[in-house]
Amino acid sequence: MSGTDVLRGTDLSKTYGNRFTRGNIRALDRASFSIQEGEICGLVGPNGAGKSTLIKLVMGIEPRDEGAVEMNGSDPRVALGYVPERPTFFEDLSAYYNILYFARLTGAADPEGTSRRLIDEFGLKGRGDDRVSSFSKGMKQRLAIARAVVHRPKVLIMDEPFSGLDPGMMIELRGLLKGLRARAWPCSCPRTSSTRSTSCATPSCSSRAGRSSAARTWTAPGPGRWCS
Ligand SMILES: Nc1ncnc2c1ncn2[C@@H]1O[C@H](COP(=O)(O)OP(=O)(O)OP(=O)(O)O)[C@@H](O)[C@H]1O
Ligand SMILES: [Mg+2]
Repeated sequence: MSGTDVLRGTDLSKTYGNRFTRGNIRALDRASFSIQEGEICGLVGPNGAGKSTLIKLVMGIEPRDEGAVEMNGSDPRVALGYVPERPTFFEDLSAYYNILYFARLTGAADPEGTSRRLIDEFGLKGRGDDRVSSFSKGMKQRLAIARAVVHRPKVLIMDEPFSGLDPGMMIELRGLLKGLRARAWPCSCPRTSSTRSTSCATPSCSSRAGRSSAARTWTAPGPGRWCS
């Protein structure tokens, strides 16, 4: 693992096979990637290419058949933040308590203050005490990202973060993501997209602290066949 890599996956493979599938499905076949500090990277590929599967293997949500995930000395359990494709919440609790729950679970510093601050920073000011069930799709997406960074992860992984958002909200969310990179702590944001290019992962928004780093995407031409 190179010294500047914050996250690396090597030869990750996954075959699904259960009573809901006819035979086995080879979702990933020795997929490899690496992410450096400060990078925003995108995974691009058609539906079913294995993007979500790759993320789930990295997050440890799905067991991998083979391969390795390394984080250069950090514990992935605390160094990764995750926004799933379809975030779920405690719908009957307020946005504040949803974030606070994760803040306490992950041992975040000053959980109450941090939770309030994130609600304001992610454009939910004045709605923090409202039930999540009353939130729009875009508001829930903001909340999901705020929740994912409550413990100041080194790497933020998002699965289709723009899905279902209107154009205005996409632009706002892109601004939020750029803001995350500019924070005091290094934050890399791999994310997936099946329908659109990862416009946040362009060279124009991938410089950090005056240092330019080329944005990269990994493309999956088809199920299980990845290239960089
Ligand atoms: N839990 C599961 N059980 C069985 N097969 C699965 C499971 N999850 C994913 N698959 C299969 O693995 C393959 C890759 O799915 P995956 O969800 O990773 O693709 P994706 O690239 O994220 O697609 P999309 O763009 O539609 O989100 C698909 O053929 C899918 O049917
Ligand atoms: Mg997916």
